[in-house]
Amino acid sequence: MISALKGMKDLYDEEARLYERVIKTCESVAKNYGFSFINVPHLEQSSLFKRSVGQSSDIVGKEMYEFTDKANNEVCLRPEGTAGVVRAYIEHKFDKSSPIKKWYYHGSMFRYERPQKGRLREFHQFGVESFGVQSVYEDISLIMMLVNIFDKLEIKTKLKINSLGCPECIKTFKEKLISFLNSKQGFCEDCLRRKELNPIRVLDCKQEHCQTLLKNCPTIRENLCSSCKIDFELLCEQLKAQGVEFIIDDRLVRGLDYYSKTAFEFESDEIGAKSAVAGGGRYDLLIESLGGKSGFGIGFAIGIERLMEILKQKETCSKREGIYLCALDEIYIKDLLNIANKLRKTHKVLLSYEAKKLAKHLNQADTNKLEIFLCMGENEAKNQSLFYKNLQTKEEKNILISNLKEEL
Ligand code: HAM
Repeated sequence: MISALKGMKDLYDEEARLYERVIKTCESVAKNYGFSFINVPHLEQSSLFKRSVGQSSDIVGKEMYEFTDKANNEVCLRPEGTAGVVRAYIEHKFDKSSPIKKWYYHGSMFRYERPQKGRLREFHQFGVESFGVQSVYEDISLIMMLVNIFDKLEIKTKLKINSLGCPECIKTFKEKLISFLNSKQGFCEDCLRRKELNPIRVLDCKQEHCQTLLKNCPTIRENLCSSCKIDFELLCEQLKAQGVEFIIDDRLVRGLDYYSKTAFEFESDEIGAKSAVAGGGRYDLLIESLGGKSGFGIGFAIGIERLMEILKQKETCSKREGIYLCALDEIYIKDLLNIANKLRKTHKVLLSYEAKKLAKHLNQADTNKLEIFLCMGENEAKNQSLFYKNLQTKEEKNILISNLKEEL
């Protein structure tokens, strides 16, 4: 038997239903914020991610599905969505013609990580990217959009925010950080690599030992220039005014190199130790560094499987929906077809074409998570009625076919 690759999953039944629900919710909220759909390729030139996500990131350093195609091009399955969308923004000259553009996207991303709960090698994201808006109010809007999505899905999250500053503040901070890092010994190999490539990413190390060494490390926040400071204060003030709870996390630097100024992550305790369900931030410098006209960009991405994992736990005794319509004898199936056609104008109906024993039908309805069970046997056929059972409440009765519409 040929099985799916490690860390890659088929999506069907209950999970497929959850997937659709999450995407529909995200889409409807994104549209209300003025975002429209964009689809970009799954395969891009490797250099796109090397130049954007950055050499110091684990994604580029260790996790890319990279290969040489038949024409000797270095290509890569996208590990994230932002770089491709920025490429499309520049390639179609929006940076020059109409810089304000708001797009959302969803689909597969690929990272060669160690598979575990909530961590796959092919996973799905819903993301948004907003171009051409400098105002920090856009940062607030994007965070509110995520709050809205999580509210609609009834998922509890914790918001962490930070400012990564602009090139001016980062220059001062980097100097202080490097001298601090040089004064300590014992950082892990990854940190030593990051120290050379992008020292700020050392702050992101998950190793306890490195986090202990980082105690009393200078923070970006203490080194923000006046403009970044004003923006960050406004961000905090407005989030509070909107009733959004958050914590400022000086160690939040995100795992990708392209961010500046606002960075944020939404965590949930419901899928193991503090997993990020969404993350994002500003990347004003990325457009120019990928060859576009200098501009402004901010976005986020939600990990769909992580949200689904939370929803699955909440829905183990999930709500049933729809009608199971069946017969104990084949001769009644024609009548049922007629009833099903009428009911399907307003209800989801699963019609069984096979005559079976009552218990077998009940079992089938249960497996399909249907709410209402309707069955025709000899007695019911005589009375022009159906046996009714509500599989949620367990209520049982007989309903006249002529009264079906009113009774359901
Ligand atoms: P990211 O933080 O790398 O950001 O990923 C966003 C979300 O994708 C994470 O919070 C997590 O929920 C999910 N995720 C990441 N890796 C995996 C995995 N291996 N398995 C399952 N879920 C995963 C980005 O990708 C940026 N492009 C976000 C962004 C958009 N920033 C600006 N615009």
